[in-house]
Amino acid sequence: MTDARLDDAEEAHLRRLTDAEADGDERAVEAALRPKRLDEVVGQARVRDQLGLVLEAARRRERAPDHVLLSGPPGLGKTTLAMIIAAEMSTPLRLTSGPAITHAGDLAAILSGLNDGDVLFVDEIHRMSRPAEEMLYMAMEDFRVDVIIGKGPGATAIPLEIPPFTLVGATTRAGLLPGPLRDRFGFTAHLEFYEPADLDLIVHRSAGLLGVELTPEGSAEIASRSRGTPRIANRLLRRVRDYAQVRAGGVVTLPVAQAALDMFEVDESGLDRLDRAVLDVLCRRFGGGPVGASTLAVAVGEERETVEEVAEPFLVRQGMLARTPRGRVATPAAWLHLGLSVPSAPAAGDSTLFDEA
Ligand SMILES: Nc1ncnc2c1ncn2[C@@H]1O[C@H](COP(=O)(O)OP(=O)(O)O)[C@@H](O)[C@H]1O
Ligand SMILES: [Mg+2]
Repeated sequence: MTDARLDDAEEAHLRRLTDAEADGDERAVEAALRPKRLDEVVGQARVRDQLGLVLEAARRRERAPDHVLLSGPPGLGKTTLAMIIAAEMSTPLRLTSGPAITHAGDLAAILSGLNDGDVLFVDEIHRMSRPAEEMLYMAMEDFRVDVIIGKGPGATAIPLEIPPFTLVGATTRAGLLPGPLRDRFGFTAHLEFYEPADLDLIVHRSAGLLGVELTPEGSAEIASRSRGTPRIANRLLRRVRDYAQVRAGGVVTLPVAQAALDMFEVDESGLDRLDRAVLDVLCRRFGGGPVGASTLAVAVGEERETVEEVAEPFLVRQGMLARTPRGRVATPAAWLHLGLSVPSAPAAGDSTLFDEA
């Protein structure tokens, strides 16, 4: 790697710029930017139509809508949609998360506090404990749970009626949900990464809310570096706004957006410093691979988890890196992205190089 090392705080800050997860401070900013109604939601046309229909039908029947599962990568709008479901049904949203429910009793307490028609949002629902999960199946289907009092042979089950409610579950890992839980959702919405045109609209909308003046080219530049993710688009917009205010008279034009994002080391394809370091090491030091994940992590000076969970998924999605049984491999797109020429014919016996594990 050729660039100078940055100190840790700066590094953490830069890393966060393209992290699709929100941290504590960011949640407050995000709340201001969240669409409040279904018709303010940009993109995800299919999900919006389907959900609109489910909610409209429920309103006409004057019943709580079916349980809804929202699945997809971080930052694409799951929490936003959960809040919109409650708003569209004019009911309160009760909010909890899988990791917060460690015992079935935690869930029983939440369920017994629900009112008729409430929307219960369980974020990261795949991280709920098994006993709580089993209690949830029953509650979803029969609006009833058995609360176990006492232990051992003397334990008794006390049935508890629950008013009809709508469960909205969100997960980044739908595959980890047990079948019986998945089957009890009447509607599953899978959120996809956004097209640049939709991200462009989101950047415009957020700029309006934040009072940032920007040109169409400036907005498009931010959108195209946002990894298909609204949360990242909003974050890049805030950094570009800082730059525009301090160094460029306030207006976000194309050159201002480019200069700001270059300064924060987010390149034209949305790769950040870590992503580029991974590609750089893979191509320049290891001739394009295959290289084992831990070797790669050591070579870029990062934890293996960080490389595997933060950098690789995006690089794989960009078609720049492949995970093979023998290790990580750079694709021709990776070489081209680094401005290097693609090495000619792979070594003999490497014809299975691009097979997925
Ligand atoms: N379809 C959308 N239109 C406009 N803004 C969106 C959309 N989806 C997400 N956002 C914005 O992105 C941010 C992250 O969305 P969030 O719902 O918290 O994502 P998730 O829960 O999937 O991680 C929010 O601040 C929200 O304003
Ligand atoms: Mg969320």
